[in-house]
Amino acid sequence: KIMAKQAFIQQEDLEAYQIMEEKFQNIKYRIKCKMAVDLMISKINMIGTQLLEKRNRVVIENITYRFKSVESTYKKLKKKGCPIDFRTALDRCNDLIGIRVTCHFLDDVYEIAKKLKSHGDLEIIKEKDYIKKPKANGYMSLHLILKVPVYSSEKCEKKKVEVQIRTVAMDFFSVLDYQLLYKKDRKEGVAEIEEELRHYSDVIAKLDKNMLRIRKKIESL
Ligand code: GTP
Ligand code: MG
Repeated sequence: KIMAKQAFIQQEDLEAYQIMEEKFQNIKYRIKCKMAVDLMISKINMIGTQLLEKRNRVVIENITYRFKSVESTYKKLKKKGCPIDFRTALDRCNDLIGIRVTCHFLDDVYEIAKKLKSHGDLEIIKEKDYIKKPKANGYMSLHLILKVPVYSSEKCEKKKVEVQIRTVAMDFFSVLDYQLLYKKDRKEGVAEIEEELRHYSDVIAKLDKNMLRIRKKIESL
């Protein structure tokens, strides 16, 4: 395992990496992260139930979460030109704790976000709307960076969580885009695939708009 690590950790970072890794593995830290996730998932499930009742259909398709690996955290810190350090990682990486919510329709995305934002115990740090303004590669999603309260025996701590909300169609795109990312430095033909993907991002944007239009038409019957 050490050998595999050394392949991407720069020699001068090895010690700092190991110290950072130990802190990320600390059980108290991990429990707090899991508590933040559990609270968010139950909030999102509550929103799903409210919307099910209101809309008479299942609104939230899926909720997943992941904790960023120490490897990816290291790579991100390097990319940002930051020192390799646990505190710096907590401070500079907003997506150490990530939750992804998929839903069926475009307006569902904003309704879920609106409801989350109305939860008084959540602090909204940042919002990025890659649906109104997709990324250059075509990536679409609504991102919220929140601070989530975590209660331990004596105090309340806030944990930063990134919530990505998008339609299943947008999610479909992001999966392929993510796959392509790992082939970028090695393979030929990437530019062509990128262009093709960008095209389908437009197709998906139109599809989402049309599905919403048709749903509204059905609702008005
Ligand atoms: P990082 O890109 O994560 O360093 O942070 P940022 O401040 O630029 O935030 P951004 O909202 O761009 O990205 C946050 C997260 O969204 C990423 O960690 C990915 O999970 C996801 N994401 C952002 N851009 C893309 C993209 O182009 N394709 C895919 N598949 N996912 C993306
Ligand atoms: Mg980014």
